[in-house]
Amino acid sequence: MSGEMHNNIVILISGGGSNMAALVEASRRQHWARRFGARVVAVISNKAEAGGLAWAREQGLATAVVDHKALASREAFDAQLMQEIDRHAPALVVLAGFMRILTPGFVAHYEGRLVNIHPSLLPAFPGLKTHERAIEMGCRFAGATVHRVTAELDHGAILEQAVVPVLPGDTPEALAARVLTQEHVIYPRAVETLLAGLSAT
Ligand code: GAR
Repeated sequence: MSGEMHNNIVILISGGGSNMAALVEASRRQHWARRFGARVVAVISNKAEAGGLAWAREQGLATAVVDHKALASREAFDAQLMQEIDRHAPALVVLAGFMRILTPGFVAHYEGRLVNIHPSLLPAFPGLKTHERAIEMGCRFAGATVHRVTAELDHGAILEQAVVPVLPGDTPEALAARVLTQEHVIYPRAVETLLAGLSAT
């Protein structure tokens, strides 16, 4: 296999970053650098206080903040975010609990390179409050979906899914925690499949 592959991964977060950490840990455990020339090179957040940023810094990863509140429009935010991402020339841009709606221009710029994880069994429950809505509807099963990002929110092609039961008396928090443990399994798996595809071309 060629030693010339560079498949940089940039992760975008807004919060605790447990999916980001799962991806970074999987990248090391599964030897993505040796197998696919892939490494997580940067973590970018729209919130300076995102818990995941401190962890990323401790791991020696480059971090950056693009504060949406400091920018006048969605377009201005996305333009600055793109600039910050593109300095890393990423093969993949991975949204991991990134809670901003992206403009069609941003999505088009990263076409084929942009993926997201969503805490429901899409196409059920796009948007927010997925666990609350699943419980209210009486769903027996819930889960998470890794999907490609398109201009329509939470509607791109599905890459991986995991299913968990909804238990009697579940709270949204309890269900969210059960789903999150599965997110940490399926997100690394989906990214690994994408990397395998990239390094095969
Ligand atoms: C995850 O459950 C993820 O699926 C969800 O936010 C959480 C982030 O947790 N994403 C969305 O709701 C996207 N609309 P993390 O920061 O610990 O990875």
